[in-house]
Amino acid sequence: MTYKIAVVGATGAVGREMLQTLYERKFPIDKVYALASSKSPGRQVSFGDELTIDVEPIEKFDFTKVDFAFFSAGGSVSEKYAPIAGKSGALVIDNSSAFRMKDNVPLIVPEVNHYDLKGCLVDNGGMNIIANPNCSTAQLVMALSPLHREFIIKRVVVATYQAVSGAGKEAMDELFNQTKKVYVNDPLEKSVFTKEISFNVIPHIDVFLDDGFTKEEVKMRDETKKILDENIDVVAHCVRVPVFVGHSEAVFIECENPMDEELARDVLSETEGVIIIDHRADEGYITPKEAAGEDGVYLSRIRVDESVPSGLVFWCVADNLRKGAALNAVQIAELAVNQGIR
Ligand code: A2P
Repeated sequence: MTYKIAVVGATGAVGREMLQTLYERKFPIDKVYALASSKSPGRQVSFGDELTIDVEPIEKFDFTKVDFAFFSAGGSVSEKYAPIAGKSGALVIDNSSAFRMKDNVPLIVPEVNHYDLKGCLVDNGGMNIIANPNCSTAQLVMALSPLHREFIIKRVVVATYQAVSGAGKEAMDELFNQTKKVYVNDPLEKSVFTKEISFNVIPHIDVFLDDGFTKEEVKMRDETKKILDENIDVVAHCVRVPVFVGHSEAVFIECENPMDEELARDVLSETEGVIIIDHRADEGYITPKEAAGEDGVYLSRIRVDESVPSGLVFWCVADNLRKGAALNAVQIAELAVNQGIR
């Protein structure tokens, strides 16, 4: 069986990675459509090494032609077109935050909660939408899930160091251009970020909410609860750093069962998709540069936190465009195929 696929936002950072991931993982594809805004017709995107695809505007696209529609063109595009695609019979895998917290939309990280997929889709009134979590949430729950099964996590404190690619291609260009201009002493231009991102860090991702948290921080809290367990308390502080690809997180957990570092390492090392690199020496840990282009969620600096009764601290790094977005989306499609949903 082969499938017809549409990638919405195909000219963007995640859209291009989705095309690459579909190709690399040999998803059984019959035909791929690359969709973007009305600015993009005439442009082409690559699918693998040999094929280039003409980009089409989403406005007139007939979604009855496809089995799967991968959306990564922002919340407003998903809000408008994902329901149209779903009602046309395509299974929508949406990378935006538009549907993630809706009761009848499954929010899936396949290694963590694959069992949530089928049940939710049955009750969703033909919406046919599956949500892909926020990039920082995806890597976090990959590490938390085995620890929660073993130790029952009560509280998570997480500080993020997020790459600019999480804000899209224009954000990557902004870091590149500002960095170049610093060296030749040219005036810097800002459009995506509110403060200079080159040689700086910005403690602000997405909009501010009334309680002082940002929407990114609230997404991490709410999505972690939805995927893992409503009873886990989560507090996040999200920071943008001048890194092109790869999100890092300092994670502090407090558990109900007594902490045992060796057991924690054992359960993490047995977890599919999680890789421990932790030698407690120079270069014995992972940085985002090494995780970029890789599929794994990497953990380093694992240690017991004795400031709380049953605590653990670790460093968690992943490629935000892959496990944080494109790879997870393609894994969801593979799961749907394996579960006979498509
Ligand atoms: P376009 O290149 O035509 O603007 P990124 O996340 O890297 O910024 O990419 C955003 C993606 O979403 C791009 O592919 C962009 O296409 C697409 N996009 C943005 N606005 C729309 C829209 N109104 N309709 C369809 N696609 C859109």
